[in-house]
Amino acid sequence: MALLALAGPARAEEAHAKAIKLYNAYCVQCHGVNRDGNGVNARDMAVKPRDHTDTKGMGDTPDDLLFKAIKGGGLAVGKSVLMPKWESVMSDEEVGALVAYLRFVSKTTPK
Ligand code: HEC
Repeated sequence: MALLALAGPARAEEAHAKAIKLYNAYCVQCHGVNRDGNGVNARDMAVKPRDHTDTKGMGDTPDDLLFKAIKGGGLAVGKSVLMPKWESVMSDEEVGALVAYLRFVSKTTPK
């Protein structure tokens, strides 16, 4: 059945639908439509946005650090101020959904 071939990716898209919406609205301009750090803004930035498809690097980064970085921005985790904070835009639940989505994008497991 042709539909079966779609079941995997389609289910993942559904599970992460909320986070994908947020990512496409707030993150792509820097982190890129391919989630690889090559957004339209990245070219002119002194510090390159994180490559969220980097399995090694993302695998070494704990969940609470990803959460903190998204919520409080780069400065909250001792990184570049060029990574904005989203705490006034997103609920903790939404930030958590993004962390889970980043695990999916980077093919890493929660840490
Ligand atoms: C204005 C550009 C910009 C936008 C928009 C942006 N980021 Fe970033 N982001 C950065 C940069 C630059 C870094 C790298 C900071 C560094 O390495 O010092 C970064 C790093 C990160 C990191 C890695 C933090 C770490 O400790 O390794 C995460 C996670 C992240 N961004 C998630 C997001 C998410 C999710 C969004 C959307 C809600 C987003 N970013 C929007 C620029 C941006």
